[in-house]
Amino acid sequence: MPNQLKVIIDTDPGVDDAIAILMALAWPGVEVLGLTTVGGNVPLARTTRNALALLEYAGRTDIPVASGSARPISSSFGYAYAVHGVSGLTRRLPRPKTTPVDTNAVDFLAARLRGLPGQITLIALGPLTNLAWLTLHHPGVLEQTAHLVVMGGAVNTPGNVTPYAEFNFYSDPEAAAMVLSSGVPVTLVDLAVCRRVGIDRQGAEGLATRTRLGRLAAQLLANWFRRDPQRQQFEFYDPLALAVALEPSLASTYQAAIRVEVTDPDRRGESLVTGLGGPVEVAQQVDKQRFFDLMERTLGFVV
Ligand code: BDR
Ligand code: CA
Repeated sequence: MPNQLKVIIDTDPGVDDAIAILMALAWPGVEVLGLTTVGGNVPLARTTRNALALLEYAGRTDIPVASGSARPISSSFGYAYAVHGVSGLTRRLPRPKTTPVDTNAVDFLAARLRGLPGQITLIALGPLTNLAWLTLHHPGVLEQTAHLVVMGGAVNTPGNVTPYAEFNFYSDPEAAAMVLSSGVPVTLVDLAVCRRVGIDRQGAEGLATRTRLGRLAAQLLANWFRRDPQRQQFEFYDPLALAVALEPSLASTYQAAIRVEVTDPDRRGESLVTGLGGPVEVAQQVDKQRFFDLMERTLGFVV
């Protein structure tokens, strides 16, 4: 459709990825052209299955899912079962009847970006492996995005995997380094800004919603808290990145040059600001109320 904002979401669902995807599906004026999957929170076969299952739940099997990288550029993924559960989702969904398209995620992205140059917002919510392969196999194509938004990194804030590294960057530091140094303008929604938007146990358990998509999101959240009595706060990492991509004025930003550490084994995945005024637009402050209003508008949440 001509006036719709066209998006592709590269993702490793994952509870917060799932909520972000549900928000995108419910976002007025947004056309989701596809989901591309990557291993990360759980293995690739599971992230792909989850992506298909979410689209089936939403009645949106018209949206293609392209399966991507099962392994990072080097070594292997360390899955986040402790956070997202073994299946990656905290609510069981029926085994999907649909299957991924024949094209792999990297070639799918290349074809779509080439077909609609300068028109697609690409939102990366997992390890950046697919995007890194895109820069290698299809040089110049990532440049065709209208806007590239990445959830990842821990800029001037402690990591969530090691004291230095955030999960997505830690999972594939080489890929993160390649994408951030590719020269393609990137908006980075890192841990620091995401930690400003969360929901506590009481809030999640009392969530009321008016919509089918909202009901699934609310169940995922409530079950996430139920699985571990120690959990006190769920951070909306990927939903915030999605919201910043679709409504950029939601966050203030600053430009920086960022280097991702790939060599030092203790600091792999660290995101270091090497200078201000560089090509990475780092989200800084977020209008929290507006974010929750957007959740309300898309998922029918009353937070
Ligand atoms: C990121 O890591 C994953 O576990 C989440 O889905 C999110 O993309 C936060 O560090
Ligand atoms: Ca994710």
